[in-house]
Amino acid sequence: MRTIRSPKKMSQAVRELVAAGKTLALVPTMGALHEGHLALVDRARKSADVTLASIFVNPTQFGPGEDYLNYPRDNRRDLALLRERGVDIVFLPQVKDIYPEGFETYVSVEKMTQTLEGASRPGHFRGVTTVVAKLLNITRPDVVIFGQKDYQQALTLRRMCLDLAYPVKFIIAPTVRERDGLAMSSRNQYFSPEQRAEAVCLIIGLRAARKAFKAGETSVRAIGELIRSEAKTVCPTVKFEYVAVTDFETFAPLKALKKGAMISLAARVHGVRLIDNLRL
Ligand code: PAJ
Repeated sequence: MRTIRSPKKMSQAVRELVAAGKTLALVPTMGALHEGHLALVDRARKSADVTLASIFVNPTQFGPGEDYLNYPRDNRRDLALLRERGVDIVFLPQVKDIYPEGFETYVSVEKMTQTLEGASRPGHFRGVTTVVAKLLNITRPDVVIFGQKDYQQALTLRRMCLDLAYPVKFIIAPTVRERDGLAMSSRNQYFSPEQRAEAVCLIIGLRAARKAFKAGETSVRAIGELIRSEAKTVCPTVKFEYVAVTDFETFAPLKALKKGAMISLAARVHGVRLIDNLRL
């Protein structure tokens, strides 16, 4: 496995691989890797000849007061995991390489980033789309893979790739969960064991919603209330930011539940902001 830090060297390596007729799949990450990330790596290996992963904690997608400085960073551990999983090249740029002095060019997807995560975290998606555009420009992959866990992010990036004509196959891979159902997340590291046990409240709420839908419930408001009350039985202090029902493909808000609809939510569990979702 090669580790490359400079964008120039990364682009050069890609040019050589393309000249040799190889196809490339890219998995962008911010490190602090877990099985969710590694499942994307597995998918990448199946999708192209050469597997690239990037690790970059992207400052522009964190708001003031968010966890940029405290975000878990452990390159040594991450590199060992990626090597074990068969990654060929890891791109590990520094902030000054991605954001050179005087940087002032951003990419933003306009409408679909105004709601849900975008409303709760102003500027977040502009940072995400800018850095991913840049990663795509540097690595020019044939395939790029994102997780459904960050559903609005995945749809926003898919929109960007379409709108800006990136010649890339866009894959959204399923959410990997802990045994109790908690969606894997680098932020789960912030919990004490007692708090971690209560973090399962979100998926318990979502699964109760799916059960109610199967039993005939179609009201968006009723399902939102059910999710909140079910979650509170597990974690009485959980604070929801939103529960939303959207069309899975278009992201349009739905007035009634239907098969294939997406339920997304964000909540604070013992001060840690988590997101999760479930498709009906
Ligand atoms: P990060 O949170 O490190 O996630 C990297 C990728 O892993 C994203 O596509 C995310 O959706 C996926 N992922 C995270 N948890 C997952 C899980 N439990 N199951 C499946 N996939 C999961 O998302 C980002 O980084 C950044 O915003 C990034 C796209 C790298 C841009 O900076």
